[in-house]
Amino acid sequence: MIQLIRGVKDILPGEIGLWQKIEKTAISLFESFGFCEIRLPIIEHTELFARSIGQDTDIVEKEMYTFLNKKDEMITLRPEATASIVRAYIQHRLYAIDPVQKFYTIGPMFRRERPQKGRYRQFYQINAEVLGVDSPLTDAQLIFMLVELLKRLSVPDVCVYLNSLGCPVCRPGFKKSLQKFMSNTTAMLCSDCERRKEKNPLRVLDCKVLACREAMKDAPSIIEHLCNECEEHFEAVKNSLNDLNIQFEIDKRLVRGLDYYTRTTFEVHTGSLGAQSAVAGGGRYDRLIESLGGPSQPAIGFAIGFDRLAEIISSDNAGVSCKPDLFIAALGEQARTNALKWSCALSLSGIKTETDFSDKGLKGQMKKADRLAAGHVLIIGDNELSEGSAILRNMMTKEQVSVPIDGIVEKLKSIFV
Ligand code: HAM
Repeated sequence: MIQLIRGVKDILPGEIGLWQKIEKTAISLFESFGFCEIRLPIIEHTELFARSIGQDTDIVEKEMYTFLNKKDEMITLRPEATASIVRAYIQHRLYAIDPVQKFYTIGPMFRRERPQKGRYRQFYQINAEVLGVDSPLTDAQLIFMLVELLKRLSVPDVCVYLNSLGCPVCRPGFKKSLQKFMSNTTAMLCSDCERRKEKNPLRVLDCKVLACREAMKDAPSIIEHLCNECEEHFEAVKNSLNDLNIQFEIDKRLVRGLDYYTRTTFEVHTGSLGAQSAVAGGGRYDRLIESLGGPSQPAIGFAIGFDRLAEIISSDNAGVSCKPDLFIAALGEQARTNALKWSCALSLSGIKTETDFSDKGLKGQMKKADRLAAGHVLIIGDNELSEGSAILRNMMTKEQVSVPIDGIVEKLKSIFV
């Protein structure tokens, strides 16, 4: 038997109702904030991710699915969507129409992480990105929209963590003071951090190894090193969030696992997720567009972990997707021929209609209607045909009425539409 590969999963029909509900809620909310959908390929040149996420990050160093194609080009299954969004913005000169563009995209990402609950090798993200605006009002509006989505999906125990990572003016000073702190500590760092501490010391703050976290717990914070402009920007983000009644906590250690961030960074955690408690993360990447060859335009965005979101709210929503309005239980050739015509006509008019033509008896078909949680069952057999009327059973109240076969489709439409 061929089984799934490690770290990936199937999303079965029983769960899909929940996934669709999340998707619909996100799309309707994001579009009401002026975001447009963009769909991007899942394969890109490896260089796109290496240059944007950063060569020294866990994602690029260890987690990417990369292969050589027949032309000996290095191709990677996307580990995230932001780099591709920026590539599309530059490649199609979308900035020439208007530098301000707001996109959302939903789809699979691939990272070769150690699989566990909430952490998969193929996982799904819901991304929202605003390109071309550096105003702190945008940061607050984006976080407001993210929190509103979680509210609409009844996600419990939501906590927003906020930090600023500064800019190329103030970050070098912070890096120096981090390096100084590390050279004065006797605590052992993992081999990755030992290697990264000179070139990219911020990555040490992001390391998941317990010993490194312990070693860095009293490390200096970026917030004390912000230049005036970054400090003003950060203050304005906080004030705007307060104006919008969004609660947040400052987390001075929040550096995020990708190198492209500048200024505002944030994560949203929920108490109901256990170890992998981050349900979303994002921030500004004001230098990325230019560094990938585009115009000098700032940007900010976030990605929600779709799988994690679905896990949080799964318990109340199991198996709601395919619930039919009507199940037609037909017995005998003539009745089945009628059921075929009626079900096609009803489905076309938007009524969720189900049939089972696999030779089940009445009992088997009623059992199936019950399992699917059909609202009503229309029973039609030889007796009903000869009497010229079918039986319509309300599965909740168990009430039965007789419906004349002549004009039955119109009659059923008037009941269900
Ligand atoms: P990220 O923090 O790497 O950010 O991922 C965002 C979210 O994706 C995480 O908070 C988590 O919920 C989910 N996630 C990440 N890895 C996994 C995994 N292996 N299994 C399941 N869920 C996972 C980014 O990807 C940035 N591109 C976000 C962004 C957009 N920043 C600016 N714009």
